[in-house]
Amino acid sequence: MTTLHGFLFQVYPYVCLAVFLIGSLIRFDQNQYSWKSDSSQLLRGRLLRWGSNLFHFGILFLFVGHLVGLYTPHAVYGIFLSAAQKQVLAVTAGGVAGAVCFVGLTMLLYRRMFDPRIRHTSHASDIAVLVVLWVQLVLGLVTLPQSLQHADGSVMLILADWAQRIMTLRPVDATAIAAIHWTFQVHVVLGLTIFLLFPFSRLVHIWSGFAAAGFLFRPYQVVRSRRLDVPPGHNLPGQPSAVPPADVARALDNPQAMR
Ligand code: HEM
Repeated sequence: MTTLHGFLFQVYPYVCLAVFLIGSLIRFDQNQYSWKSDSSQLLRGRLLRWGSNLFHFGILFLFVGHLVGLYTPHAVYGIFLSAAQKQVLAVTAGGVAGAVCFVGLTMLLYRRMFDPRIRHTSHASDIAVLVVLWVQLVLGLVTLPQSLQHADGSVMLILADWAQRIMTLRPVDATAIAAIHWTFQVHVVLGLTIFLLFPFSRLVHIWSGFAAAGFLFRPYQVVRSRRLDVPPGHNLPGQPSAVPPADVARALDNPQAMR
């Protein structure tokens, strides 16, 4: 193990996670109007619908797969799944989702680089994010044949142990990581770098994407269409009255005053 390995697998993860969390918080606090996915659909829809949907389906599957795969302790899934079976599952599911994501991401990258309208309105960070994600995805796909060479799941166990130790603030043995194939090492380091870039790019929209699950639990909104021509206070069947009756009476007497 070299000093570089020690830095990359013992110190760098904490640098990236600190920048990711504190940077996101500062950006949300200081610059909320920049907190968006920065859709370019109005400029050109071509390639976006397929590209974005395929990409997001693949990347969300991979994201959840990485989270569950790396952070479920072996003692938990070991009850019904051996490490070797888990490895085959990861390679198969990850391979399919990775291929879907690759097609979508390549379409998005092509569109951003070669569509003049999109290219001219892109920030450097929009291009950088797509390039980094593309390289990271290709590296992930390149590791698949490597993983099949040790189908007992041994490398997967080393990586999961490393990730769990980092998150639970326990000492890390970087020697074990330094011994595995370089493609895994670069994949881990670039993956950490994505967290580093996160607060400085449109990737902040991912926080909001997951936070949108809160919509399922919020109180419903009453929305009235003008086209239905429902006078104030006369609710559609099943709708509660949002306007006090006294206000309704006044509005019916003098509709102009309510405009
Ligand atoms: C959590 C759920 C997510 C939601 C709801 C979401 C939503 C969106 C939306 C609405 C756009 C704009 C698409 C357009 O131009 O109209 C977008 C773009 C983008 N998203 Fe997501 N996203 C999510 C997760 C992710 C994840 C996990 C990643 C990557 C790690 C990601 C990376 C991107 C990138 C790179 C773009 C820009 C694509 C381009 O225009 O070139 N998103 N996302």
